[in-house]
Amino acid sequence: MAPKKKKAKDTPQLDNEQRFDKLEYARVPKRVRRLLVEGKLDMSKHAMNAARRWTENEEHTFLVLAGGVGTGKTIAAAWTIEQACEHHDICFMPAPQLAGFSRYGDSDELRWVLCCDLLVLDDLGMEHLGERGYFLSLFDEVVEERYENERRTVITTNFTGEHFVNRYGQRVADRLREAGLFIEIAEESMRGKEDF
Ligand SMILES: Nc1ncnc2c1ncn2[C@@H]1O[C@H](COP(=O)(O)OP(=O)(O)OP(=O)(O)O)[C@@H](O)[C@H]1O
Ligand SMILES: [Mg+2]
Repeated sequence: MAPKKKKAKDTPQLDNEQRFDKLEYARVPKRVRRLLVEGKLDMSKHAMNAARRWTENEEHTFLVLAGGVGTGKTIAAAWTIEQACEHHDICFMPAPQLAGFSRYGDSDELRWVLCCDLLVLDDLGMEHLGERGYFLSLFDEVVEERYENERRTVITTNFTGEHFVNRYGQRVADRLREAGLFIEIAEESMRGKEDF
């Protein structure tokens, strides 16, 4: 039976060190872990707002955060992990890393990506598609498996609208549309800004 989902308002009472460890176990990168644990994030940013909505209402299996660089997509996606990290098996996976997995040699890693309770697939679009579109079929499999089993999944990407559909195809886009919130973020980059 699928584990009981938790709502954002039930955020676990872990201390910072425990939260940092949980996030590390999920493979959230150090920079992102630090920003999350410091707790100075602006929750009014579009990506954060969407992440909060998606976490709280649990209506959609997928959340796609699409938009320009530095708009807070990765931070917002990792925030969803922080909300769920006490009780769930969670995986943060950059798409270029997933593209490097072989279906045979890395089967444990792939199973984790397919079956974990919450997956964040970061930087979709930065991967090499590989010979004969290897990544496309792998990504299709990930979406299909997680769609069919209603496993919560957050995707971040710089590909928006038709560019996303052109690259990943109608099959994937159709599933994400039906079972997901597809959010396009048009804010400016926050990188290098002293105050948020
Ligand atoms: N909600 C937030 N509040 C305050 N600062 C933020 C927030 N989100 C992001 N930032 C700042 O913006 C920087 C970039 O955020 P992030 O890495 O999430 O961007 P991104 O949209 O994933 O960019 P890219 O498309 O290049 O991967 C962070 O390092 C952080 O300094
Ligand atoms: Mg990012």
